[in-house]
Amino acid sequence: MCGIAGYIGKNKASKFLLEALKRLEYRGYDSAGIVVLNKNIPKCLKSVGKINALEKKMKNENLDGFLGISHTRWATHGSPSEDNAHPHSDCRGNIWLVHNGIIENYKTLKKNLIEEGHSFKSETDTEVIAHLIESHFKGSLEKAVFSALKQIKGAYALAVISKDDPDKIVVAKKSSPLVMGIGKDEYFLASDPSAIVGYTDKIIYFDDDEISIITKNGHQIISAIDNNEINKSHCQIDFDASKIEKCGHSHFYLKEIFECPEAVKNSIRGRIIPEDGLVKLGGLETLDQDKLREINRIILIACGTANFAGLVGEYIMEEYAGIPVEVEIGSEFRYRKPIIDSRTAVITISQSGETADTLASLSEAKRKGALTLGIVNTVGSTIARETEAGVYNHVGPEIAVASTKAFISQIIILALLTVYLGRMRGMSLTMGKRITEEIQKMPSLIEKVLENDRQIKDLAKKYSRYRNFLFLGRKYNYPIAEEGALKLKEVTYVHAEGCASGEMKHGPIAMINENFPSVFIAPSDSVYEKNWSNMEEVKARNGKIIAIVTEGNEEIKNIADDVIYIPKTLEMLTPILSVIPLYLFSAYMGMELNCDIDKPRNLAKSVTVE
Ligand code: G6P
Repeated sequence: MCGIAGYIGKNKASKFLLEALKRLEYRGYDSAGIVVLNKNIPKCLKSVGKINALEKKMKNENLDGFLGISHTRWATHGSPSEDNAHPHSDCRGNIWLVHNGIIENYKTLKKNLIEEGHSFKSETDTEVIAHLIESHFKGSLEKAVFSALKQIKGAYALAVISKDDPDKIVVAKKSSPLVMGIGKDEYFLASDPSAIVGYTDKIIYFDDDEISIITKNGHQIISAIDNNEINKSHCQIDFDASKIEKCGHSHFYLKEIFECPEAVKNSIRGRIIPEDGLVKLGGLETLDQDKLREINRIILIACGTANFAGLVGEYIMEEYAGIPVEVEIGSEFRYRKPIIDSRTAVITISQSGETADTLASLSEAKRKGALTLGIVNTVGSTIARETEAGVYNHVGPEIAVASTKAFISQIIILALLTVYLGRMRGMSLTMGKRITEEIQKMPSLIEKVLENDRQIKDLAKKYSRYRNFLFLGRKYNYPIAEEGALKLKEVTYVHAEGCASGEMKHGPIAMINENFPSVFIAPSDSVYEKNWSNMEEVKARNGKIIAIVTEGNEEIKNIADDVIYIPKTLEMLTPILSVIPLYLFSAYMGMELNCDIDKPRNLAKSVTVE
């Protein structure tokens, strides 16, 4: 969580530092701060709330320096307050730093530092780093940072400046992301490249245990392990800055829902050979294909929405590729004793590629000898780099905190992977063709669902007075029931539960009455009749029903209060269509209830803490 930024160069630092925070706001937004060295005098401003509160404060202040750091926070240690907001400083206000990550041994360090006479201003874990650096400082900031880091346990992306060793920023990374943009006589630092796009296209991704000393004229990267200099070349990033604008939409959340057809097009581009019913995944071709042929078990690991995509993937892969699949929650996997061998493929699914629990599970899987693969959207992210091979989603930046277009793409990639692995095994040419042809139709089918926009907006208005919802689905659409409920909770704060329709009778049905509507995802598939019986059970208890069903289903009007139609497709691909109305429903409900649907309270897009 948290976003950090830094600037040193020929221009005033504050412009980039503020703009970068706005682009990183998805990483956390309960407080923010900036410090700039103005003729070697540190000038720090902090504010509680979103970045615009800091921006307002900055308008009346002189922040003229050419070097500085900034931070947007998602509170872990200490409530959102100005005292707890970064940047943090040492006792004398000479050393300033911003931090993303968690210092696990901060309590012991803090106790010792207090005994040595240091006085603390915040409740954060981060502040200990500033005091540790102070205690080691003898004129060279980098030397003090090196020594301080030797005492620290935990995760960090750090940027440090000092009035007593000015004209440089010292940065360090372990387990939290950090990138550097190289301009002409200027450097940009940020938690991810999206904050730097438009300023330069030359990026260096720092790796763990690297420390860099950056001046406006050059930089040096040193290994924190053996103090040797590391020669690292930069990557050229290809990133369209217009992708991080709202482009006529009122919210990023809505914009990204409407981008789903484009997202699918981008995810499948160049990857399907329809005449042969084959899929081409360049990212996997670097692997020994026999290794892929020998996989006898797949474990999909992901968190949040990506985990529900994994659940859809489990059903698809088992049915069509014939490989046993399990889906694991990132935060659970590594605390169990998973049984893994070299024929197990562990596939991590992550939009950001930085989710701490997913990343930690990946390390555990590697340690145990699994083949590790990734389905990741953010190019160059940690998961993308740490896995042996993988497939990028290529859906462009997703800015709204609640994931939508990445989810659609994750299912698409899992379906492509099913064909890729399936055709190496028993899947016939005919089946390969059927699936790939249908995948190619997805963009236009999603467009058709999006045409229901107006109807769903009206429905959201009609149902906005209800405080509880049950989402129900079976088989391929069970994960969609979970995802629909998650989205409603996330962006409207309305209580919602997702449930496998068949499980309703084991508990959730007790809640049903006229004030507790149910949303049924019941396309005309192999379990439609079963869903119908569950609808009868809800009706018998006076529950209201919103049903998402396949076009042409007229009988549904006899039982459902409201009906949303989706086009016909293969059963395994129905989740891609059925989730779209649920996304729109949550968006319009949220707007109806005056919620910030782009940045819901208490959440962050990239959850880099465990
Ligand atoms: C956060 C976001 C979710 C996302 C989850 C996993 O909770 O709010 O939208 O699904 O993290 O993120 P990842 O980047 O790993 O897909």
